[in-house]
Amino acid sequence: MAKKVVVISSSPRKGGNSDTLCDEFVRGAVDGGNKAVKYFLEDIEFDSCKACMSCKTPERECYQDDQISLILDDMMEADVIVYATPVYYYSMTGTLKRFFDRCYPIFNHLENKDYYIITAVGSSNGNALTGIRDFISFSVNPTEKAVFTVVGDVSTQDDIKSEVYRAGRHC
Ligand SMILES: Cc1cc2nc3c(=O)[nH]c(=O)nc-3n(C[C@H](O)[C@H](O)[C@H](O)COP(=O)(O)O)c2cc1C
Repeated sequence: MAKKVVVISSSPRKGGNSDTLCDEFVRGAVDGGNKAVKYFLEDIEFDSCKACMSCKTPERECYQDDQISLILDDMMEADVIVYATPVYYYSMTGTLKRFFDRCYPIFNHLENKDYYIITAVGSSNGNALTGIRDFISFSVNPTEKAVFTVVGDVSTQDDIKSEVYRAGRHC
């Protein structure tokens, strides 16, 4: 059965290392008959969570009127979610963290999703997995399917591109 795939790309570098792998995942997923959408966060204007707690009322409405609510709706409906980030100082990008904070209306309402994590590092020093896994752990019955990490310039590394394409195709 066709799956719904949501990919969150958080590098500021469109077509950079992690974003290229996001595109490979999407390409594979679509070739495999699935429905896939990538959100390149840098292109989306959104403010930080204001901790107003309006999303903790029964309506779960965020008062901020921006594109984030559409992404959260997509994530709620998704079967597969991919989080991608370059490693910045042993962690995820500030953009991805800001996005996770905006997931406060839904972070513990995401149920039975399969997760993939894509990271890019300059030198194999450090990883961004801890924070992303901590965020995923708040969801209900999550399954971590795979982690892909590219070290250095992805454009010369066809192996990892193929690996991620195949993961998308068989997600
Ligand atoms: C602010 C900043 C912090 C970084 N911190 C690290 C780091 O801690 N470890 C590392 O291996 N690379 C680090 N890098 C390098 C990037 O992770 C690396 O260039 C990566 O391939 C970029 O991925 P992208 O093309 O998907 O943006 C850092 C780069 C920047 C701009």
